Amino acid sequence: MVDMEQSETLPEESLVSGLRLAGCVFAEEEAAILLESARTDAELAMMLARRIEGQPLEHIVGWAQFCGFRVKVAPGVFVPRRRSEFLVEQALAALAGRAGRPVVLDLCCGSGAVGVAIARSLAAAATGCELHAADVDPAAVVCATANLAPFGGSAHCGDLFAALPQELRGGIDLIAANAPYVPAGAIAFMPQEARLHEPERALNGGADGLDLHRRIAREASQWLRPGGSLLLESSARQAPLSAAILASCGLTVTIASHDELDATVVAGMLSPAGELHIGR
Ligand SMILES: C[S@@+](CC[C@H](N)C(=O)[O-])C[C@H]1O[C@@H](n2cnc3c(N)ncnc32)[C@H](O)[C@@H]1O
Repeated sequence: MVDMEQSETLPEESLVSGLRLAGCVFAEEEAAILLESARTDAELAMMLARRIEGQPLEHIVGWAQFCGFRVKVAPGVFVPRRRSEFLVEQALAALAGRAGRPVVLDLCCGSGAVGVAIARSLAAAATGCELHAADVDPAAVVCATANLAPFGGSAHCGDLFAALPQELRGGIDLIAANAPYVPAGAIAFMPQEARLHEPERALNGGADGLDLHRRIAREASQWLRPGGSLLLESSARQAPLSAAILASCGLTVTIASHDELDATVVAGMLSPAGELHIGR
């Protein structure tokens, strides 16, 4: 951490004004985080230069704030969004009242923030969980492995469910997936931080944004335990389509939204008898 009393080169005001000139809306907060993170003046100057160049603050300092804790995020790995805290909230609600220690999968995990937040809450409630996470991107899996370690979780690398050990088949209580759902044509309109510094594979959900939702829904019932749930982060506009996809795969569907977080989650439950309710 830089001692500003000693620092000649970057007094706090110039840090704030540099950030403001670069278009950072929360310049004061960002300046405080950079000051806390940099160990030397030289490192602070380098961090500021990276930020001015447009790199996400989280990639520069190596962590993101999520559900009240800090999760490690490496450059090239998707930065968890506040909106996804609602996915965590809905996952905990879906698990409430289930007996035993649930098996939880954070699918398309990125840093593993969603799974870790679920595991933290369950650990605090003394239930705990068996936590798994999976992502196709090796850099994300390295990051998730580090974040899951304190919870004894495992991160697997591969394409959706193909990443998972076969023993999990039919045994997962909850799958939470913030899979890519941005329509391909909308990526050009995303903020530069996402477009240039997050992998396109983390954002691009295909022509209508729902390619991954279709693929996940097709396989989910083979991996869920009877009565288990699949929760997909979606958008208000896409949610009815995500819901129809889950329903067409035999799951009982609900949609929940959170106005302040601009967050929508579509849930599909496998019946307690494990039957698929297709076409009802
Ligand atoms: C929108 S990011 C979400 C990351 C994390 N769940 C979060 O909320 O911070 C989507 C993630 O899905 C991963 N992904 C994309 N296609 C995938 C696939 N076919 N199989 C597994 N993961 C995939 C990306 O690598 C990326 O990490």
